[in-house]
Amino acid sequence: MKSIVATTYGGPEVLREVDAPTPAPAEGQVLVRVVASSVNPLDWHELRGTPYVVRIMRGLRAPRPSGQAMGSDVAGVIESVGPGVARFAVGDAVLGFGSGAWSQLMVVGEAGLVRRPASLSATDAGGVGVAAITALQGLRRGGLVAPLAWAEGEVEPMRPRVLIIGASGGVGTFAVQIAKLLGAHVTAVTSTRNLELVARLGADDVIDYTTTEVTRGLPRFDLIFELAGARRVGDLARILTSTGALVACGAPRGQWLAPLAAPAVLALRSLFSRRTYASFLAKRDTADLQQLAEWLETGALRVVVDDVLPIDRIADAVARSESGHARGKVIVAL
Ligand SMILES: NC(=O)c1ccc[n+]([C@@H]2O[C@H](COP(=O)([O-])OP(=O)(O)OC[C@H]3O[C@@H](n4cnc5c(N)ncnc54)[C@H](OP(=O)(O)O)[C@@H]3O)[C@@H](O)[C@H]2O)c1
Repeated sequence: MKSIVATTYGGPEVLREVDAPTPAPAEGQVLVRVVASSVNPLDWHELRGTPYVVRIMRGLRAPRPSGQAMGSDVAGVIESVGPGVARFAVGDAVLGFGSGAWSQLMVVGEAGLVRRPASLSATDAGGVGVAAITALQGLRRGGLVAPLAWAEGEVEPMRPRVLIIGASGGVGTFAVQIAKLLGAHVTAVTSTRNLELVARLGADDVIDYTTTEVTRGLPRFDLIFELAGARRVGDLARILTSTGALVACGAPRGQWLAPLAAPAVLALRSLFSRRTYASFLAKRDTADLQQLAEWLETGALRVVVDDVLPIDRIADAVARSESGHARGKVIVAL
């Protein structure tokens, strides 16, 4: 089977297509024939082995295990099931994420998958996995848990005010829509060419970061979801309410300490504050994937596609994501 691997750390140019043996699903795993995947920043951090701390887990000199296909997000069809798999059968259309998705066939733990809604194309489904779950879990970490509810005759409660920085990217386009579904008043920060896009996704207010510095204003946000890694924590704190939450997914680029400094500053601040300061790592959660699939099924949530590229152009797809200016998801078609 055709598989995209990297045998050395580097940029998109080190990616190679190889003919790999078909893997067999073990206990609790399924074999998926991949139809579509996408590129996440996680993929090119692993590809480059940066920040260098990545290499502690991936291998100091070269990525391990050697020959392991790259890629995380998957949409495809179940080809076979391992022992003990109860939720899926051969032929089921699925979406989710795991390791080794840039490959014609991929083994995934069944907990990392849900059924693909019939109304969602396999191509769009390839862009859901990591980005959508990060959006949902990150907003929840900041206290946005469920839509507001109030009894008949009661005054409608104030909607939480949420600021999403990096709103037009892979995570941001999902975050704007999910924050709206969870009842927030959403302010989206992006560049000029994407203002219309984030407004169409439901943002109540839009801020163009190329003309307006969002951190110069009054404290007014209950939750800041930071996806660009371009602002100091202290500056963001100025526009946070006294009990608000700053949840940071984006980190400044760098090979050594820069990406690690922001989480350390957040952890330190949270010790001495009524506010929440959190860096955040998304994790596999079947119930969360199921919630996303339900929203996608009804059309309440949609996938914004920057481009769809064939797997032969995986290097271009990675470069597009690495530019930091993709509009939604860069999809890879197998
Ligand atoms: N912790 C986790 O579990 C986790 C999971 C997924 C992603 N992440 C991280 O979350 C971040 C976002 O991921 P992504 O997949 O959404 O990336 P992405 O698709 O590359 O999107 C980045 C977005 O940031 C915007 N942007 C760039 N410079 C900006 C600035 N100075 N101010 C405001 N916005 C700016 C870009 O919009 P314009 O084109 O308009 O500039 C773009 O929409 C990345 O740092 C990624 O590593 C973390």
